[in-house]
Amino acid sequence: MFSDTRDELIEIISGEEITKRVKTLAGEINRDYKGQELIAIGILKGAFIFLADLVRQLTMPVQIDFVRLASYGSSMESSGKIAFSKDIELDVGGRHVLVVEDIVDTGYTLKYLKDVLELKGPESVKVCCLIDKKERRKVDIEVDYVGFEVPKGFLVGYGLDYNEQYRNLPGIFNLNPSYEPRSYIPSER
Ligand code: IMP
Ligand code: MG
Repeated sequence: MFSDTRDELIEIISGEEITKRVKTLAGEINRDYKGQELIAIGILKGAFIFLADLVRQLTMPVQIDFVRLASYGSSMESSGKIAFSKDIELDVGGRHVLVVEDIVDTGYTLKYLKDVLELKGPESVKVCCLIDKKERRKVDIEVDYVGFEVPKGFLVGYGLDYNEQYRNLPGIFNLNPSYEPRSYIPSER
């Protein structure tokens, strides 16, 4: 049974490492969208901290929106059934859209959102995620900017929760201490 003591959490990515990596990702995004404008869409709730840190490093004009998606499944794994519980408010027609997500796991959530966005006629849709659990992917989905690759494990902190807890931790922690995943920066793999 899970108990609410932070001693059970093992830090796998520190707040300092995240700060450094977010700067690098923002640098790539600034380069790729030079001279263009962007709509950044954060997926609530998990991406709120990542989006806040990322957009403050962006140098082009940026508009911000959020969506919230409900996935029917257990609290630790999403099912293929996804629905909006909060839709986009900005008009993305003809615009460059960057979806900002905390973790891509099975890929169901992102696939659903990308498909819905594409129907609204954007100029482009790209995806930036903090953590890619690539090995767990069930649907084929391209992630354009990846902060860290983590093979598996249930992660909390920096916006990520378990039963709404731990979102405020500055680093990323593994909730299951019996398994210690390593994290990779994709280009250094
Ligand atoms: P997917 O649809 O399976 O790709 O699930 C992605 C969503 O599940 C993310 O937006 C997260 O909110 C949640 N999720 C997946 N893995 C974790 C985790 O390790 N910790 C916390 N949330 C997770
Ligand atoms: Mg999420």
